[in-house]
Amino acid sequence: MENCIIVTGGAGFIGSNFANAWIKLGLGKLVNLDKLTYAGNLANLADVEQHPNHIFIQGDIGDKELIPSLLRQHRPRAIVNFAAESHVDRSIHGPAEFIETNIVGTFNLLEATRAYWGGLNDSDKANFRFLHVSTDEVYGSLSKTDPAFSETKAYEPNSPYSASKAASDHLVRAYHHTYGMPVLTTNCSNNYGPYHFPEKLIPLVIHNALNGRPLPIYGNGQQIRDWLYVGDHCAAIRRVLEAGKVGEVYNIGGWNEKANIEVVHTLCDILDKEKPKQSGSYRDQITFVQDRPGHDVRYAIDASKIERELGWKPAETFETGIQKTVTWYLTHQDWVNNVTSGEYKNWVSTNYKERGEELA
Ligand code: NAD
Ligand code: TYD
Repeated sequence: MENCIIVTGGAGFIGSNFANAWIKLGLGKLVNLDKLTYAGNLANLADVEQHPNHIFIQGDIGDKELIPSLLRQHRPRAIVNFAAESHVDRSIHGPAEFIETNIVGTFNLLEATRAYWGGLNDSDKANFRFLHVSTDEVYGSLSKTDPAFSETKAYEPNSPYSASKAASDHLVRAYHHTYGMPVLTTNCSNNYGPYHFPEKLIPLVIHNALNGRPLPIYGNGQQIRDWLYVGDHCAAIRRVLEAGKVGEVYNIGGWNEKANIEVVHTLCDILDKEKPKQSGSYRDQITFVQDRPGHDVRYAIDASKIERELGWKPAETFETGIQKTVTWYLTHQDWVNNVTSGEYKNWVSTNYKERGEELA
């Protein structure tokens, strides 16, 4: 085995933040396998693309020939599986891709890994890790007074996205219990930060605000999400990879529950300071639109296990992280312009027209 890890989905939002940090920290070779769907973008990897320790391969986690051949060639000590279809609204419009990548793709990755892992010597076998990156959405929706999700909370996924992630989590678990594969699963709350595709709430609001477009709030805006800065999520994954107990699940979150409307107000207030409009506030652009079908009311992560057992804690508060994020978007408008051309416009038109808004 080599000091090499294979990361899947490493050209997407969280995966690219992870790959960039891994290379900058000098942690060894990283083979980055990504299909480059609409969500994958090589521009996210511009800082590491020339680095000898970063190897990018365009491909699908569901490819039955490619995955075994990558494992034979690179002999990794770990796989970190970020690759997924990740947007709830897209899963409502077209669930098939979610089943294909999140379930069948993860199954293919597990099967290929099982064959590779089975052929390792005893010590390499014991040291190998398969880390599956998942979401708090598998746990379902909380009422305002329920306790936050712990690792033992029953799975109650409500969207095709969260159901497909739940299925993949179950497969990963089964590969440990049935075959003894050294797996780790992390379930994280909503991330935000650099390279976040502007179909998701925070980057969409920044983008629309700066372009004088409506800021669409689904329903009454009182739904609660628990926000974590992406750099903190990546640090937590590195910690779990290094010290997590095989077969265990770790919930990752920043203890930052916010109602959507509060998040949007915060973004408007920062933008009012950083890039004031000629008259009025960005808050004037807020528009309430038709709700998401089956919209989960509240997510909240109880992150006490990872803190207690592995000593991980987020470095950013919501206030510091959101300020950094707005600054990043203001200084990376070329990146935003690049990703909001082409297919993006079709999506915006599909998703918001039915909500009675013309945003594109
Ligand atoms: P993303 O949509 O930004 O990126 C996904 C990446 O996977 C893209 O680069 C895409 O090209 C790639 N990909 C898609 N299908 C593929 C396939 N079949 N083979 C290879 N690559 C493929 O998603 P993200 O927000 O970076 O999320 C990454 C992971 O983290 C996902 O598994 C998601 O469920 C999980 N997660 C996300 C959040 C969040 O707030 N974004 C929170 C918790 C967990
Ligand atoms: P999103 O960023 O899509 O993440 P997730 O659905 O995985 O939590 O949405 C975050 C919250 O913001 C969610 O409650 C839905 C809401 N939302 C809006 O109100 N308007 C929007 O245009 C979008 C994309 C999301």
